[in-house]
Amino acid sequence: MVALSKIALLAAAAHAAVIQRDAPAGPKIRQTGNGQNVVTWDQYSFYVNGGRVMIYSGEVHPFRNPVQDLHLDILQKIKALGFNAVSIYVHWGIVEYERGKFNWDGVFDLQPFFDAAKAAGLWVIARPGPYINAESAGGGLPGWGARVEGQWRNSNPNYTAAWQAYIDSVGKIIAKNQITKGGPVILAQPENEYSGFMEPDGSLNPNEDTEYERLLLEAFDNAGIEVPTVCNDAWIGGHFTSVDVYGYDNYPAGFNCQDPLSWPDPPDYFYASHKDVAPNTPNAILEFQGGSFDSWGGYGFEQCYKLIGPEMVRVYNKNTYASATHLLNIYMIYGGTNWGHLSNPGGYSSYDYAAAIAEDRTLREKYYELKLQANFLAVSPAYLTSAPVDVQRFPTAGSNITITELLDQVGGTQRFYIVRQTKPAETTDSAFSVDIETSIGKKTVPQLGSAQYVLPAHDSKIIVTDYPAGDVHVLYSTLEIMTWKVIDGRTVILLYANTGESGEIAIRTGTAYKVDVRRGKASTVTSKRTSMVLTLQVVVGHETVVALGEDILLYVVDRVNAYNFWVPDVNLKQELPVIIKGGYLLRTAAFSGNTLSLTGDTNRTTVFEIIAPKKAQAYTWNGARLDTSLTRHGTQEGRYRTRTPRVDIPDLARLKWKYIDSLPEVSGSYDDSKWVTADHTYTHNKIKPTTPVILYASDYGFHSGNILWRGHFTAAGGETTFNLTIQGGNAFAYSVWDGDEYLGSFRGAPAPSAHNGSYMLAGPWKPGSSHVITILQDHMGLEQNWFGGEENFKSFRGLSDYSFGGATPMLKHWKVTGNLGGEKFADWARGGYNEGGLYAVRKGFHLPGLDDSKWDSKSPLKGINGPGIEFYRTTFTLNVPNGVDYPMSIDFGSRTNKSLRVEIYVNGWQFGKYTDDIGPQTSFPVPQGILNYKGENTLALSLWSLEEGGAALATIDLVVRSEVEGGVGSVRNSPGPSYTARAGSY
Ligand SMILES: *[C@@H]1O[C@H](CO)[C@@H](O)[C@H](O)[C@H]1NC(C)=O
Ligand SMILES: *[C@@H]1O[C@H](CO)[C@@H](O)[C@H](O)[C@H]1NC(C)=O
Repeated sequence: MVALSKIALLAAAAHAAVIQRDAPAGPKIRQTGNGQNVVTWDQYSFYVNGGRVMIYSGEVHPFRNPVQDLHLDILQKIKALGFNAVSIYVHWGIVEYERGKFNWDGVFDLQPFFDAAKAAGLWVIARPGPYINAESAGGGLPGWGARVEGQWRNSNPNYTAAWQAYIDSVGKIIAKNQITKGGPVILAQPENEYSGFMEPDGSLNPNEDTEYERLLLEAFDNAGIEVPTVCNDAWIGGHFTSVDVYGYDNYPAGFNCQDPLSWPDPPDYFYASHKDVAPNTPNAILEFQGGSFDSWGGYGFEQCYKLIGPEMVRVYNKNTYASATHLLNIYMIYGGTNWGHLSNPGGYSSYDYAAAIAEDRTLREKYYELKLQANFLAVSPAYLTSAPVDVQRFPTAGSNITITELLDQVGGTQRFYIVRQTKPAETTDSAFSVDIETSIGKKTVPQLGSAQYVLPAHDSKIIVTDYPAGDVHVLYSTLEIMTWKVIDGRTVILLYANTGESGEIAIRTGTAYKVDVRRGKASTVTSKRTSMVLTLQVVVGHETVVALGEDILLYVVDRVNAYNFWVPDVNLKQELPVIIKGGYLLRTAAFSGNTLSLTGDTNRTTVFEIIAPKKAQAYTWNGARLDTSLTRHGTQEGRYRTRTPRVDIPDLARLKWKYIDSLPEVSGSYDDSKWVTADHTYTHNKIKPTTPVILYASDYGFHSGNILWRGHFTAAGGETTFNLTIQGGNAFAYSVWDGDEYLGSFRGAPAPSAHNGSYMLAGPWKPGSSHVITILQDHMGLEQNWFGGEENFKSFRGLSDYSFGGATPMLKHWKVTGNLGGEKFADWARGGYNEGGLYAVRKGFHLPGLDDSKWDSKSPLKGINGPGIEFYRTTFTLNVPNGVDYPMSIDFGSRTNKSLRVEIYVNGWQFGKYTDDIGPQTSFPVPQGILNYKGENTLALSLWSLEEGGAALATIDLVVRSEVEGGVGSVRNSPGPSYTARAGSY
């Protein structure tokens, strides 16, 4: 995902052309050049194992969830949407933190994710980069890249030599998980948003580097990747078309979380642009807006969710169906956490993304809206060969409606009419009627009752014609279809609309069915029969169930009730013809003999309705028998009482806290001889500093967390000020000392990534006296590198200039430290990014198992008296029973506008970075598996006060964010070492 989507949006809008009528064409099946024929495609859609499929996918980043046992939870939740795929990025900079040394171990192993995807029944679109963007540190590029000279993301041989080992390594992992090898991977994407380019002189270049693209495809090939390759152009710009199937990005709702109802108009039709650029391949949106990022000083994800909530899904996702989109990947479906300094400076610890599945793995309403749509498409195969044939704007005089008509190009009869407000931001409802084409001629709907429908603001509907639901021929339906199933020969169709709306379903049949309302008010159902068509009009309430003889059962429900229905198997083969109503989540359903075993999550007493074949004689929910009774329409109902036992949650504020000073560097006697000497006189960075030695952290192997600089000087005499130019990324801060004398701080603000500072020395320096200037700076993550050929990710962290006022001392030397060991980092299990350069962290004091009994006692609510750093530790135990899912977070309450920066370490894992004055994040979800739910936990906090008067936390709480019974089963704690004294640490 890219921050420049506004540009992309404009470009796409400029490109949007008038719709063109498709000459119906027979499918031309195409396959990759290497002979595999498991995943193929034609001009309409993909085929997997010979069957045509809509690829409805959600983006998930395994690297943003360091608990392997929780992948299955997320993936089952995605599967339950009716999706069939997930798309992943792999972050090169994490797994090759030291050049040439790959870390695919423990939480960085991709195999458990692939295995979980397979277990959940999802395919995988693998997107390993080398560049990913993803609002991540370096956009995926490694920190050591700062020392590889020249342009990145083009065919510069220095860069080629840098990425080849990585693509070989990750490519082989992907290759062995391909569908052709029995794994879940169906598509692979080299690079990402390779759409804007720079010349060597830094000027913009309209042309991509096709040699780079060729090298990447060759490297994929060499690694054994044989599934089709795809690209993700940042707009339909026709870049990287040498892949098998061209694809692109779209973020139509924008990112204006400040003004969340300011929806821009979507570009009308990608379809025409798609036909221009890639007429022989399916219309594929590799990233479609599923939320929004948020930045330091931003609005928070709950506010962003107002911009991209269920209404956005209703309006904009349906607009992509109007463009006959046949691969749709929602970015993000689950965002996760920028734990361990994984963010770029444009984001903070939470990567919640206001996605359908929240960072704490709970489900937002938008999840349920997506479920309605994905389920519908999964049972509507004619959509897969449909193309837009007509657009009716203002179909009814004065209305604000636009209707796109899609026609099945292969079957030639089925149509889909997508009805929406012409301007998505429209706040008034609009009335409309519509002329539809059916197999028995044109009809104007509504046919019964009122002359017009009302389309509410922020809504969109899909009307179908000549739609087969099993053996039932639906002539048209203005009620939306969620799903249908053929169960023991009876077709069950689930229809929905907003409460109070009326809609129609017309069935083409010669049978004189009796209209039998089995549930709901009979007066809400009106019907009309001709020799060929039975038309029903229903005023939609909570639930109306209508039986048409023994053949057809219609559920007409309002939207909120439709959310309750789950289809465990959306496969059209009808192998598991089961629909379940009820529950927070249905994970799995399977027959064992005559028992239908269901698993999932509930959060309250739930009445399940089970719509299943008669062969089902008994039912279980999470293994417990469910007693049921027969309903009037032949289904089963059973009540389940949810048990969510109370657990003891420690009051973190009242725990016994221990602390130490974590800035020994500013005590007179501190010895920094073990630090790296910053003595380079050449940098590969194209920004050349004025300093006598290079003071860029990445030149010395330090790429994240806090960085400390110490300059040793002999005074000339009369020095009065110290001036510097320092850079750390948006919202960074720093503090400066002369020996043990505090000179001052730059507390930071949301935007500035660099600062020019001037600080008064304590007094004029005496000639010949020795001085050490200590600078503690924040590092907000490596920048991304959006343009091909750009070197932005090398943006330095450190000093590009310094000077003294009054006199110029003699430099003895500069010392620097970040995390212990730099690229040869200390903690293989938690990765190179997890640690920063603070004394306590270099020593490993953030790890569990340290004997801190000799430390002094103090609470972080008492805090630190002046500027500096203190490091706090406490322990507590949790005992959460099996069979429940209670996501938790560490919350700091409301902000007090103090310049206080806090890093949170839970059992050694860096799981949050809090800035009290900049924000916005105050609540830090920590997953089970990082938190030990059955035993002891170590919580460590670094408090960095940039205030003369000191600073303290106002509150600290461990909060249970949600209580459901069910869950994914046992979640093992992520493996990571406990404290042992670190040899060579300083
Ligand atoms: C590649 O790296 C070398 C050595 O650092 C440098 O001299 C050369 O200019 C670089 N090439 C390019 C094209 O940037
Ligand atoms: C169309 O939108 C305008 C502006 O919001 C509104 O005044 C008008 O009533 C709408 N027309 C219909 C038929 O709903």
